Amino acid sequence: MSSLIRYLTLGLAATSAVIAAPAVVKERETGTAIDQDLYDRFVLYSQFAAATFCDHNTNSTGDKLTCETGNCPLVESSDTKTVLEFSDGGITDATGYVATDATRKIIVVAFRGSISANNWLADTVVVPVSVDLCDGCKAFSGAWAFYAEVRSKIVEAVTAATKANPDYRLIITGHSIGAGITGFAAAEFRKLGYGTDVYAYGPPRVGNTELADYLNTHLPDNSLNHMINHADFFFNLPPGYSNVYPEYYIDTPGSRDEVLITDIKKFDNGSGHLDKLPDNMVGHVHYFQTIRQCQPNIPF
Ligand SMILES: *[C@@H]1O[C@H](CO)[C@@H](O)[C@H](O)[C@H]1NC(C)=O
Ligand SMILES: *[C@@H]1O[C@H](CO)[C@@H](O)[C@H](O)[C@H]1NC(C)=O
Repeated sequence: MSSLIRYLTLGLAATSAVIAAPAVVKERETGTAIDQDLYDRFVLYSQFAAATFCDHNTNSTGDKLTCETGNCPLVESSDTKTVLEFSDGGITDATGYVATDATRKIIVVAFRGSISANNWLADTVVVPVSVDLCDGCKAFSGAWAFYAEVRSKIVEAVTAATKANPDYRLIITGHSIGAGITGFAAAEFRKLGYGTDVYAYGPPRVGNTELADYLNTHLPDNSLNHMINHADFFFNLPPGYSNVYPEYYIDTPGSRDEVLITDIKKFDNGSGHLDKLPDNMVGHVHYFQTIRQCQPNIPF
């Protein structure tokens, strides 16, 4: 049995047993258009997320972010320097970086998708654990293990970078599992009093409704930016956990790297693809580009 199928089976079996009630399926909204400024930010941060897939950005703290595959030109044209790079390769595969960007006056925390995201989800989805981010908040244990492994290092790195650059804004980004993990970091830094903006590309669900509600109510409007491709199936996984809204939905069939501003619709409190099935299995990696170009052998 493929691990994805196994995963889905496990997930479905787990649904009834798991934590709080699944999110209520709301009436489908009609999405609204986004403006050029937000579009540009989505493009920019997709490149910071893509940079996490290039090993040298996660294995040697202190250097400039670059992508040998040429897929992060906006990042490369900035004056960046990593203040923390982390890569595990072990069971949680926690990988990413914290970097400063003097050109844009931002501190970026970025989490990479897992090398074998579907296997990884499959093996870890069933157990919900309580997390100390907010009252009643739970996460699925595998996602939480990823964050728990690196959280103190990240908090330390961001604290030091903020002290050195008090006028910089904190940005949290990632793709796939890494996009899901952004929610934990956002809740953490919110609790610590930071203003922060999140750009999450293809996030799965990682927490219960309490965690999603905490993020929705404690982060200011327009700071939570979850983007979902038309052909992405991760957003519906795992069953029994909750999505974070609003959702920015790429409402164009087919998996392609070119995404126009008119392709993207904002859904405030529902899912853009509530009534649609993913049209293929590779949409998950297409967010303005093939986001994991530095790791061509990762399937998703
Ligand atoms: C980091 O990864 C790059 C590959 O991108 C490799 O060439 C380099 O040797 C690695 N450095 C360390 C310290 O492992
Ligand atoms: C969804 O949000 C819109 C505005 O943001 C609101 O008008 C609508 O009533 C909401 N729908 C549901 C089902 O909550």
